[in-house]
Amino acid sequence: MEHNVAVPICSSVPPEPAGVLGDWLDAVAVGLTDYGWVSVDVGDHMGDQLLQSLRDEIQILDLTAGMKAAGVGRGADHTRDRSIRRDKIAWLQGVTVPQNALFDFFDGVRAGLNRRLFLGLKRFEAHYATYQPGDFYRRHLDSFAGRASRVVSLVLYLNEDWQAADGGALQIFNRENDLEICGSVLPEMGRMAIFMSEDIPHEVLQANRTRYSVACWFRQDEVPLPLEVRLPL
Ligand code: OGA
Ligand code: MN
Repeated sequence: MEHNVAVPICSSVPPEPAGVLGDWLDAVAVGLTDYGWVSVDVGDHMGDQLLQSLRDEIQILDLTAGMKAAGVGRGADHTRDRSIRRDKIAWLQGVTVPQNALFDFFDGVRAGLNRRLFLGLKRFEAHYATYQPGDFYRRHLDSFAGRASRVVSLVLYLNEDWQAADGGALQIFNRENDLEICGSVLPEMGRMAIFMSEDIPHEVLQANRTRYSVACWFRQDEVPLPLEVRLPL
């Protein structure tokens, strides 16, 4: 199966050519190790039907006010700062048929990355995101070093026939110098951007048409047990 792996440009070491590795996860592991990010088209691997049903689901959520304004920061620092991000989100629970299939897929990615990179990823969390025309997400990191929380970020795009003129590209910055752009990913159906959450600054440029995606974060921490089932010290 052919997979179109984008060539990051922030290294003098040429990446492995697409296709020769056989398994697309091998290419992802190489990209993450060498550059900290990779873009890969997995439509053939996921299947058009799953992509279409996810796309139908997010569109229905969008049309029925199921998407809520996204925030920035954690806990007490959590704010809805529209100068930083303007997308709307809905967390996935994995309970509908397409979400269940997507969760199986994500769990395969989690286990596959652990096997290749020994990352100790224990779980993931995922949300749908919609950007309306004019929406953007300024340059940011998904996680702060040392928290072992979000370790690998994955964004799956759900937009047919996305053109450069539609805006909304994901800009990837150099992990050593966040003024240098390493790559740009158009949010085309079945395309994924995968990157190290603590290392790779990134930004979503202003979209000129509605932009649909699923964002997923693979985490090293365990789910905290609810208070009532914690053992006494
Ligand atoms: C995010 C994010 C990138 C994208 O949700 O944190 O950076 O391309 N998304 O949608
Ligand atoms: Mn992000």
